[in-house]
Amino acid sequence: MPSSSETAVMPQTQESNSHMKIDKNGIEETVDAILNKYYMKKSSLISILLDIQSEYNYLPKHALIMISNKLNIRLIEIYTVATFYTVFSLKPRGKFTINVCVGTACHVRGGRMIVDNIQKELKIDIGDTTEDMLFTLETVRCLGACALGPVMVINGEYYGQLTTKKADAVLQSYKAQEAGA
Ligand code: FES
Repeated sequence: MPSSSETAVMPQTQESNSHMKIDKNGIEETVDAILNKYYMKKSSLISILLDIQSEYNYLPKHALIMISNKLNIRLIEIYTVATFYTVFSLKPRGKFTINVCVGTACHVRGGRMIVDNIQKELKIDIGDTTEDMLFTLETVRCLGACALGPVMVINGEYYGQLTTKKADAVLQSYKAQEAGA
């Protein structure tokens, strides 16, 4: 179990602020299955966290506490790993992650305007997720497609030569796709 001093330094996961209900029983079953898959080995911590991230799209706090207890790893050590690698998120994330490039090549072509416009449209700040858990907005320094700037990527799909209007249309297409799903 984490000591009170550990709990004090742990990052806030914002699960408590989210409307998302955490199904602790479901998490326990899933985490048990993942731990068994890796034979409860401490040395598999990163693989275990990757599996949990891919299951929930973030690392639920309850799952991290379970791993700490079952593998006898201090919770603070798990948080150290979880915050070191950018692939991990401690906050619930939306179904679609929007990464807008704000690197130099995109910035000079209006990348910042794209971000501002998406923030306004989705009513969220950078790093946040919409209430319906559909979109998470993030920015990146370069997506390796500078010639196509401004660029954004949504769940691995690239959209280049963006204008605010074009970015808007892309978002609407995702919303429409979800509404029809
Ligand atoms: S600076 Fe935006 S893709 Fe490289």
